[in-house]
Amino acid sequence: MGELRGTHVPVLLERCLELLAPALGRPGRTVHVDATLGLAGHAEAVLTAHPDTVLIGLDRDTEALAHARVRLARFADRIHLEHAVYDELPDVLDRLGYPAIDGVLFDLGVSSLQLDAPDRGFAYAQDAPLDMRMDQTRGVTAEEVVNTYSHPDLARLLRVYGEEKFAGKIASAIIRERERARITSSARLAELVRESIPAPARRTGGHPAKRTFQALRIEVNRELAALETALPAALDKLTVGGRMVVLSYHSLEDRLTKHALADRVRSKGPVDLPVELPGSGPTFRLLSRGAELPGEAEVAANPRAASVRLRAAERLDPEAARQGRTDRERYRRRVKAMHQPGTGSPGSGTDPASAPGDGIGTDEEGEGT
Ligand SMILES: C[S@@+](CC[C@H](N)C(=O)[O-])C[C@H]1O[C@@H](n2cnc3c(N)ncnc32)[C@H](O)[C@@H]1O
Repeated sequence: MGELRGTHVPVLLERCLELLAPALGRPGRTVHVDATLGLAGHAEAVLTAHPDTVLIGLDRDTEALAHARVRLARFADRIHLEHAVYDELPDVLDRLGYPAIDGVLFDLGVSSLQLDAPDRGFAYAQDAPLDMRMDQTRGVTAEEVVNTYSHPDLARLLRVYGEEKFAGKIASAIIRERERARITSSARLAELVRESIPAPARRTGGHPAKRTFQALRIEVNRELAALETALPAALDKLTVGGRMVVLSYHSLEDRLTKHALADRVRSKGPVDLPVELPGSGPTFRLLSRGAELPGEAEVAANPRAASVRLRAAERLDPEAARQGRTDRERYRRRVKAMHQPGTGSPGSGTDPASAPGDGIGTDEEGEGT
């Protein structure tokens, strides 16, 4: 286990604690899953704030787990630290004998441990072997991707996962270079990317290799596929009143999160029916309006927080969800009536933004805001 480098400040820590508290602070034993344990900054704060909470911490990176184990040693009697990909959560819970959970946190992406490690290849600013696996015990490396994928496959992954405008040019440069010599180092790859991007474009949007490295990392770790499975699986495990908080660091993660939550907060019943049909009501309510962004002070203190987007939701009591539908319907009728001639006037005190019920407002399209 290497020395820790960097600052490792947990992102949006106070806000995460505030959102999780009503679920984890309920009387009796509560169960919290940290699906991306990392260096256990969030986990340590949760365990400290909630003395009756059991923590199940997952990470696919064995080095992160080793550091977390040391940091959380004083909580040893109420933690389970598991080497697992987060889409394995249902199996982990079965194995540990926890049928349901009260809180779950996903703090996505790479940890500062991984970014700062000179030998892991995540950082374009440091020369290292092109590895980029979060779990170094299995899977293909970035070196294998870069040296074996076809031009269309490379271009597609750079375009889709890196949102890279010059994906085709970069893929061509990679193919040309590897015909000459195998590409094995992060510095060589970063240089190739820089050379492929027209000079005016290099001056904007941060380091020219940033998007290529993000794309390779996502591909190597199959990040989006795991997240797409893990989010619904974790939502399914939450008790009534249980809460999920997700911190995303790029638009692809945030979009998956938004869609996973939107699927649960929408009623699937007919719009005009005043009551919810059994089984058709929303099962969750949003706790965040759109995606929450960090404040200036947080970004100044912790540059890693600059790109974070937070979304959170709480599982509803099915009865309360039915009642909410009835209240909302009454409210809609009242607003509609107000706008009929001779039945009251706008501005008579009803604020559509304070509609009772699901906390969604008109916010469904609020991605990235
Ligand atoms: C941003 S860090 C978490 C930092 C942590 N919240 C803290 O306070 O120290 C993300 C962690 O999630 C892990 N991770 C990323 N994807 C994962 C996945 N699919 N399954 C399990 N762990 C994952 C990474 O290895 C990394 O250690």
